[in-house]
Amino acid sequence: MFSLKPLFARLPMARSTRAYAFGLERLPPLPPGPVLDLGAGQGYGTAFLSRALPQRQVVGVDITYQCLKPQRLAFGPRRPWFVQASAPYLPFRASAFALATAVMTFHCLPEPERVFREVFRVLRPGGVFLLADVDGRHWIAPWFERVEHWFGISPLTRAYPPEEIEGLARAAGFLPPKTARRKARGFMVWYFLQKPGASGGESPSRTARVAEAYENSGEGRASATTSST
Ligand SMILES: C[S@@+](CC[C@H](N)C(=O)[O-])C[C@H]1O[C@@H](n2cnc3c(N)ncnc32)[C@H](O)[C@@H]1O
Repeated sequence: MFSLKPLFARLPMARSTRAYAFGLERLPPLPPGPVLDLGAGQGYGTAFLSRALPQRQVVGVDITYQCLKPQRLAFGPRRPWFVQASAPYLPFRASAFALATAVMTFHCLPEPERVFREVFRVLRPGGVFLLADVDGRHWIAPWFERVEHWFGISPLTRAYPPEEIEGLARAAGFLPPKTARRKARGFMVWYFLQKPGASGGESPSRTARVAEAYENSGEGRASATTSST
């Protein structure tokens, strides 16, 4: 079948480091421990995490290495590990990670309930699942899904309505989510889902490090206004 996926993978718009930065700047305090990036894709987001959270080991997971561009990535002091695996079947022990991210990834994953259960399992008590994706209630959602299906970018693509994400999160055991958007009617939603339990306390200088991670990459800074619910 004709597919635009290889072309899409080359486009700068496929690098959503700004979406990672927006989420990182709004994270609640995290327990100590490594970071899991689900759906690493080209690896720009994973590399960004390794610069923004330099004390933490970042692990990027993807079902395929087809898009990964390790030679083009600017890593932080700890080089991330890349692991080939499928999100609903994570090859990690329980309570291994402090933070899991799924930025523009959840919409194309199979077995959504299982993905939530797996992320919950591998997070430490107090750990956070940062999920950022297209709002299934936004007018753009059906067009986003059509483009992904018609051009073979991802046949499974589905933009989930916020109440469905919140239901999945609740069923997996997460605390009631906090959400944020860039603009009141923005098409993307950031969900901050916390696993119950003690949280750590890392955060005061995190915003500064997120900014620094941008400066070191030459990608420019995220400019954003927030509206949290
Ligand atoms: C749109 S890309 C997002 C990449 C990256 N998070 C970003 O924002 O730049 C979605 C990624 O999810 C990956 N993916 C699809 N199904 C997956 C699965 N079952 N398990 C892990 N990754 C998967 C795809 O291969 C693709 O690289």
